[in-house]
Amino acid sequence: SEFQAFSHQILFWYRSNPRDLPWRGTQDPYKIWLSEIILQQTRVAQGLPYYYKFVNQYPTVKDLALAPQEEVLRLWQGLGYYSRARNLHSCAIYIYKELDGKFPTSYEGLLKLKGVGSYTASAIASFAFGEAKAVVDGNVFRVLARYFGIETDIASSKAKKEFESLANKIIPQDEPGEFNQAIMDFGSRQCVPLNPDCESCPLSGSCFAKQQNMVKELPVKINK
Ligand code: ADE
Repeated sequence: SEFQAFSHQILFWYRSNPRDLPWRGTQDPYKIWLSEIILQQTRVAQGLPYYYKFVNQYPTVKDLALAPQEEVLRLWQGLGYYSRARNLHSCAIYIYKELDGKFPTSYEGLLKLKGVGSYTASAIASFAFGEAKAVVDGNVFRVLARYFGIETDIASSKAKKEFESLANKIIPQDEPGEFNQAIMDFGSRQCVPLNPDCESCPLSGSCFAKQQNMVKELPVKINK
């Protein structure tokens, strides 16, 4: 199918272009959760040293739960959006005390954690548990809008549902975590917002935007 062709091409691209990121070497949901909370409003390059600091200082959710809050906030200094650090700490305490120290093991369970929305729950569930839940962020909007020729305004309220539904149809059941990582990297390194190098892109032959000369027009974003 068209979806299968797309996921194969994305995974093929990823095999020669992966970013080497430390949270990709683990299936520990705690460490993946840490990385995803840090990356919610922070770029990878800025988040990396914080990920290392937190994993070193608090190797398990129990270590984080037992830490004094002011220490956690001090370690977070420089990242901003401190509610992320407060949620991180209170979730750790909740998991340690109420869940017997065991991380939720499903998308639905993860969604109940403060500070974990559909994107973060999908990332953790797919990377740690192999659940076929697609991540959808700005990168994914752009890649799907261009490749499939979707002209929905990505700032509209129906866009998130529409792109999530499409991405969940595309994500391969046998390697959902790989696919999510692949589309993240493809969006950040190949299918970039401005002047993407389509000549070097292995998907250009079947990309709607490239074929229709609409790379500059997609995704559609109407400023409000
Ligand atoms: N942004 C959010 N989650 C990410 C991840 N797991 N890898 C790279 N960038 C990300």
